[in-house]
Parts: sequence; C-alpha cells; structure tokens
Amino acid sequence: MYMTTSEIRKAFLEYFHSHGHEVVSSSSLVPHNDPTLLFTNAGMNQFKDVFLGKELRSYTRATTAQRCVRAGGKHNDLDNVGYTARHHTFFEMLGNFSFGDYFKKDAIHFAWGFLTGVLMIPAEKLTVTVYQTDDEAYDIWNKEIGIPAERIVRIGDNKGAPYASDNFWQMGDTGPCGPCTEIFYDHGADIWGGPPGSAEEDGDRFIEVWNIVFMQYNRTIDGEFHKLPRPSVDTGMGLERIAAVMQNVHSNYEIDLFRDLIAKTAEVLSVSDLSNKSLRVIADHIRSCSFLIADGVLPSNEGRGYVLRRIIRRAVRHGRLLGATEVFFYKLVKHLAALMGEAYPELVAHTDLIEKTLRKEEEQFIKTLDRGLNLLNEQLAALGDNKTIPGNVVFKLYDTYGFPVDLTADVVRDAGYVIDQAGFDEEMNKQRARAKEASAFDIDYNSQLKVQSNTEFLGYNSLTADTVVESVFKGVDAVDAVSTDEDGIIVLEKTPFYAECGGQVGDTGVIRSVDDGFIFKVTDTKKVGNTTIHIGKVELGSFVPGMKVVAEVDSMSRKLTCAHHSATHLLQAALRKVLGNHVNQKGSAVSSERLRFDFSHNEPVTLEQLAEVEKLVNSEIVANLCVDTKVMDLEEAKKTGAMALFGEKYDQKVRVVSMGDFSCELWKL
Ligand code: SER
Repeated sequence: MYMTTSEIRKAFLEYFHSHGHEVVSSSSLVPHNDPTLLFTNAGMNQFKDVFLGKELRSYTRATTAQRCVRAGGKHNDLDNVGYTARHHTFFEMLGNFSFGDYFKKDAIHFAWGFLTGVLMIPAEKLTVTVYQTDDEAYDIWNKEIGIPAERIVRIGDNKGAPYASDNFWQMGDTGPCGPCTEIFYDHGADIWGGPPGSAEEDGDRFIEVWNIVFMQYNRTIDGEFHKLPRPSVDTGMGLERIAAVMQNVHSNYEIDLFRDLIAKTAEVLSVSDLSNKSLRVIADHIRSCSFLIADGVLPSNEGRGYVLRRIIRRAVRHGRLLGATEVFFYKLVKHLAALMGEAYPELVAHTDLIEKTLRKEEEQFIKTLDRGLNLLNEQLAALGDNKTIPGNVVFKLYDTYGFPVDLTADVVRDAGYVIDQAGFDEEMNKQRARAKEASAFDIDYNSQLKVQSNTEFLGYNSLTADTVVESVFKGVDAVDAVSTDEDGIIVLEKTPFYAECGGQVGDTGVIRSVDDGFIFKVTDTKKVGNTTIHIGKVELGSFVPGMKVVAEVDSMSRKLTCAHHSATHLLQAALRKVLGNHVNQKGSAVSSERLRFDFSHNEPVTLEQLAEVEKLVNSEIVANLCVDTKVMDLEEAKKTGAMALFGEKYDQKVRVVSMGDFSCELWKL
C-alpha cells in the first residue's frame, strides 16, 4: 500500500490518538535548560523530566512527530550522510510515550497493530530484537504476537539490565534510559545485508524502523543507574525509513519528499544525473540547516552555531562538486517550505531569515573555499604514498580557510585519504592554551569547591535575613574560620543574596555576626550546584560555622541592577520592533553599572536602526512604565500575547512580566 510521507505522519498520530494518547507538538531543535544535549535528537527529549518524575503532565500517554538533528553530540550521523541509504542530519521521529501508564505488553501490541493493521505490512517482513536478558519482551513477541523464534534476536550482553550496551538506549551520557526492543524491515534478498546480530547486519537489507525503549533508569554522571519512579515507554520510528518501506524503495533518498528535493536541487544546479551522491547530501543538509535556523540557531564559531556552519559548508562544497559557480543553497528554501510547511509552520514563517542567513554564509565561505581546496590539492600531491593529511595542514585549513575538520575529511575521503585527527587536536589545544592564558587566574568554583547544601533563597521578598553560617572557605579549601583581612567564602543556610545567573551579576552587601558585630563584605555571589556562595573579605573579626549572622544585600546596587534588567526587556522588545521578530536573546550581562545584550540577527544593524532602537527604549524609560508580574496558566498567558522566551520550556503555571503595552514576556515561575 503506497502512502506519502505526510499520510504516514498523519496516520501515526491519529492511531495513537485513538488509543488515548495526547497529540503533542514537536519541540524546538534547540533543547533549552538541558546542557547535556546539543540538539533535540529523539522524541523523548521534551519529556525527559516527565520520565524522571520531576514534572507532572495532565496526560500519561503522548504521541509526537518530532523534528530531530543528529549532528555533533552523542548521536552524530553527519559523516554518514551521502554514504548510506538511511542516515540524515535531520529527520522526523514518530513516537508514542507512556509515563508510568502502560509498559512492555501494550507498547509492543500498539506498534505491531500500527505496522500490520494500519500500514498493512506483511508480518513475515518484520524481524525483531530484544535485550539479551529480556525474557518478558521475548515472550510477548513470541507467544502473544506469534513471531517465530528465528525472527527474534537477542542482542546485548549477558549481564542483564541495567547495563549500557546494544539494545539498551540512552539519550546521552546521563538521563533516562532502558533496554529496548527494535523492529526491522526486510527489504528483500536482492539487497545486500543480514539480520541484526549477523556479520552482514550493516548492509541495507534489514533496516531498523522502530525502537521501543522500556525506560526504567536514570543514569547519573557517576555512571550509576537509579530506578525511575515509574516504568515508562519511549518509542521512536524514523519517518523517512518507514516511508521507504511504504513506497517500496530501498533508500530513504528515494521517498517522495527526497525525490522532490533532489529534483529541485538538480534543477537549480542544472545537473542531469539524479543519482549523484552530492545531490543527496545537499537535499539532506537543506533540511537540517533550514530547521535549525528556524529554531534560532545562526552560524557561528562555537557550539550549535558551529555545527550549523559545518553542515552549510559541507553542502556548499558538494554544490561545487556538482559544478555550482555561484551562491545556490538558499534557492532551495522556498521549495522545502512548500513541502514541509504544513506540518511545520515555523519553516514558512522564517523563510526570509533562512534564505538570508544561508546566502550570507555561502557568500562568505566561497571566498576562501577555492583557495583552501588549492592548498589541499598541493598537499595531497606532496604526500606521495602517505595517505594521512598532517594535523597542521588540517588546522591551517580550519583556521585560515574556514574548513571544518569533517569537511576536509569529506573532501579527501573518496581519494582514500584520512586526516590526522590527533595532530589537529594538538594544534587546537595549543591555540586554546594561548587563548586561556589571560583568564588563567579565575578559580573554577563549580569543579573545585566541595559544597552540597541547598541554600534557601529569600531575596525575592526581602533584602536582609537572619541566618546561620554553614561553612567557610579560603580559596577552595574548607576551613574552621576566616578572619580579619582574609579573602574567603561563606555559605549560609538561607540568603537574600541573588547569585549570578542568566547574565545578571551576583548581589553585593555585608554579612554581620549577631553577637559580636563582625563584618564580612560580600563582593560577589555565585551558585555552585544548589549552594549559594558569598565571596568577599572579612573586615572585622572571625567567621566560623554555626555563627548566627544577619545577611544584608546592598539595596542600591540591587535596585540599579534591577533597572538594567528591566532595560534588557525594553531593549529586546525594541529590537524586535525595529529588526523583526526573529531577534532572540542569546545572552546578557546585567550589573548595577551597565547592561550588555547579545542577540541573533542575520546582518549588521545599521546606524539608523540603532538610533531608532535607542529612541524607542529611551521613550519607554521616560514613560516610566509599571513593571507588572502576574502568575497564570500557560494557555491563558499565551492568549495575552506575551512573548515566549525563545525555545524555553514552560510549566503549566508561568509568570507574565509586562511593562505597559511595550514589552510582555513569559517567564518560568
Ligand atoms: N529514544 C529512542 C530512540 O531514539 C526511541 O525513540 O531510538
């Protein structure tokens, strides 16, 4: 039965909806508040806290079509794109989730019902794997579903869960995880490859289409597995892979959506051979790049922005291979938006921004691309029989010509060369060490200070507090006392001091002992885990653990800092009015003396625009708008038109912070 990609997506969500699942929208590709993750790489990411029992939703079953990127980070497929039939930097994952509701039995029956009952895939085309020691899943497949033993493969080790290995899925080095059972589709004997677990398993004959994870553990940084509060289910089926099955093709790149994108790319580049591998690379990359930009990532030299830059540059290079002589990549955006815009309206909304960003990045890169390629060719000629490109050459290409390492590897791969990654890393480290010298004197409290308490924060309502010294430190060492003229750190049981966070500086002030009037001057406040640390100097006396003290924030400094914080809201609103709604905050520094606001925009701000922003902000300051904070339900808050902070994940209750009609933002409680 032929089904289009869109029809499959729709049928999946409808099927699970009819089985009591809430249809939840795809979350952004940029996971906020989760430093363990570079990009959203699976449907379960947005539910991580629900699995961990930290967040409660109004439903216990959910289903999604989630946009995912697997480039950079733990699950990285970038290098495979163009070389296999089924790897992508961007793909859609269809999933159903149970949060302590159903478990193995229903999860397996649901998946089977959809594949064989809705998609009408013949049972004999499907093979499954289970975790080596998971007899329960084995028996459900074998006895209830009726899959013969020869098509159920046990994979993993004999150690038994919890133990991370094959068929044990984890989202990253930490987080929810558990044993899984996978469903494979057999594309037929005319394709090379063998069933899972066999020597030929890497071939394209047996393709994993659905992974059902029995979420049971939270893996913490120390490598320990802790039982989740409730056994749960997380499943993921790659839409492109199942579309290949339903369209009776053997490569994801032959499905409707990719055929269309590849044809468009070939048209733009005047290429007639539609099977050219570079066309596939470009068709894949235009999806990840467009979606990443729509989700607020812009090309840069670090983090997410650098992954985006790497993907764009790789696409540009493949365009050159196909004979492109001018900027071309951005020309595919409108076509992509037409193909996928119905399911992902954000793509349509940001078409203009995506086109401009891609165009600019390509223009910039082609200035150095040819010179870099020339250098590389000279080096190849000089290498003779040696098939390894030296680290210093790879580094020069990176540093001077803007060639990401994987791009260099991709350029030389077909000619049988590899790069000296270790040599490159060494050059990189040298450069980092040079850059770090200037900041070598900063103490990294987070990794060096051993504190573990939960300091209670009182500072929203009060600027002074009666409290008790919990511990004192000199440098990073816990000590019995800090005394007059000594620098030190004091940890208190409760504090009104705001710790540096989200760009706002930490409070300053004093800590006085109740009985003796000793004085500790606080020059900075920071957070280490859940502990607030007060950094400063003893002006008089001696501070010891157990001492009763009064902590007093410098109220003038706090007020000025608050004013600058408010000004960042006005600035953000003004920037969006003048430059457009794509402007998003990327960082800020707010103190009593000044503010800095970093934002994303795809071109330099003109002097006229700057003047207009300035005028707007100043007139709103003069208007002396009231800052109004209301706590309300998320849905109600959205109706007020409040601006959701970009990519932020909100709980059911939120704070709406507004300043007249000018700025209105949604904040977490
Ligand atoms: N999280 C699992 C995966 O990505 C199942 O969705 O494979």
